[in-house]
Amino acid sequence: MSAINYSDKIPNNVNLSEDRTLQRALEHWQPNYLEWWKDMGPEGAQSFDVYLRTAVSVDPQGWAQFDHVKMPEYRWGIFMNPAEQGRKIHFGDHIGEDAWQDVPGEHRANLRRIIVTQGDTEPASVEQQRHLGLTAPSQYDLRNLFQINVEEGRHLWAMVYLLHKYFGRDGREEADALLQRNSGSQDNPRILEAFNEETPDWLSFFMFTYFTDRDGKFQLCALAESAFDPLARTTKFMLTEEAHHMFVGESGVGRVITRTCQVMNELKTDDPAKLRAAGVIDLPTIQRYLNFHFSVTIDLFGADQSSNAATFYSSGLKGRYEEGKRNDDHVLKGQTYKILEVQGGQLVEREVPMLNALNEVLRDDYIKDSVGGVERWNKLIEKAGLPHRLTVPHKAFHRNIGSLAGVKVSPEGRVVSESEWQAKVGEWLPTAEDRAFVASLMGRVVEPGKFANWIAPPVMGINRQPVNFEYVRFS
Ligand SMILES: [Fe+2]
Ligand SMILES: [Fe+2]
Repeated sequence: MSAINYSDKIPNNVNLSEDRTLQRALEHWQPNYLEWWKDMGPEGAQSFDVYLRTAVSVDPQGWAQFDHVKMPEYRWGIFMNPAEQGRKIHFGDHIGEDAWQDVPGEHRANLRRIIVTQGDTEPASVEQQRHLGLTAPSQYDLRNLFQINVEEGRHLWAMVYLLHKYFGRDGREEADALLQRNSGSQDNPRILEAFNEETPDWLSFFMFTYFTDRDGKFQLCALAESAFDPLARTTKFMLTEEAHHMFVGESGVGRVITRTCQVMNELKTDDPAKLRAAGVIDLPTIQRYLNFHFSVTIDLFGADQSSNAATFYSSGLKGRYEEGKRNDDHVLKGQTYKILEVQGGQLVEREVPMLNALNEVLRDDYIKDSVGGVERWNKLIEKAGLPHRLTVPHKAFHRNIGSLAGVKVSPEGRVVSESEWQAKVGEWLPTAEDRAFVASLMGRVVEPGKFANWIAPPVMGINRQPVNFEYVRFS
């Protein structure tokens, strides 16, 4: 089951050739996908030979094979983790029943919506990142960008397969629409707001892959629990790829910090103006980027109270993060959870039915996970002998969804007036000047082993190759 058939037009481990109708439908979608990739994928890079990993099987040893390939020739395919014999539904109202191998009629609309929403984020991030290759700080980074891009493309394939196989005609229409919406488009934007934001520079890219790809991890983890077994198996395999995306973000921000700290020590200063003059990104600017990406990303989990979240859970469509490791009844009726809201100018906690607060539960799990990397960034500053520290802003800071939408809260969690917000926002979120300064540093570095001045080299290369390996051949 885990071997991948590369003789097929569409590599897969789902026995695609046994279902001719489905195979033909997907082979019909394939050229449209490639058209989209050429129009909306990495700009000016289609003829480069890029050192990429491709899945050759889904078992731990074999899912990553490295070689130089041109991106349009990347073997995008459909891969699922092996089926678990006798898998049972382990949460919600159907707990203990057999997992579904097909879509139950009554859950069809909700499942389709979940799959479409997840699927929409995958090509969206490719679109958001399509200009970044023009200003990569090194070959190593350029290769990582393209690796993420082709894998997000594969994640789209993963969702499109489910739509085609299990949702008939409306599934095929949704699959087409996934190639028609575009990030930031006025008439036909991507579904979720954070995926219509620009990723204008490499600091944004590293923040995005650290914070926003981690949102992807949590959504996929919740779907990996699903009673709909094909969705669970698909998302489990996607998670193996997602880990590298977050690594690129964490190590990328870490290398920016390392370089900044080096120059802080050389010049014995923390004056942002002096550091900027020396061509590195000052820590307060990094903090503002962090504040922005963290706050925009936690909005992606949705409203803190949501009847949809309750329905998705109770009907078995979407579990909690690490559902199987939790010691409760996995039904959650009658249980409560604390959400935040503003009363009388203060942030207060309020207990609400847990089933309705499952977006908040997932958001809180995400926050715990994302704090870890920020602590590791602080270790780098500490190691450089500097007293500065980065912090994760308060959950209520700069929120745009749920009960905290529009409430003005400082990064420390103090409710502030509109006028204080206006006076301080330039210290809390990236300003136009910050963005212009970061943009001014972006320039293309193409020589193997060379890095832009604002970022330190990585500790090691990809797939045990040296850091100065020729990761991209420009031809
Ligand atoms: Fe993805
Ligand atoms: Fe990702």
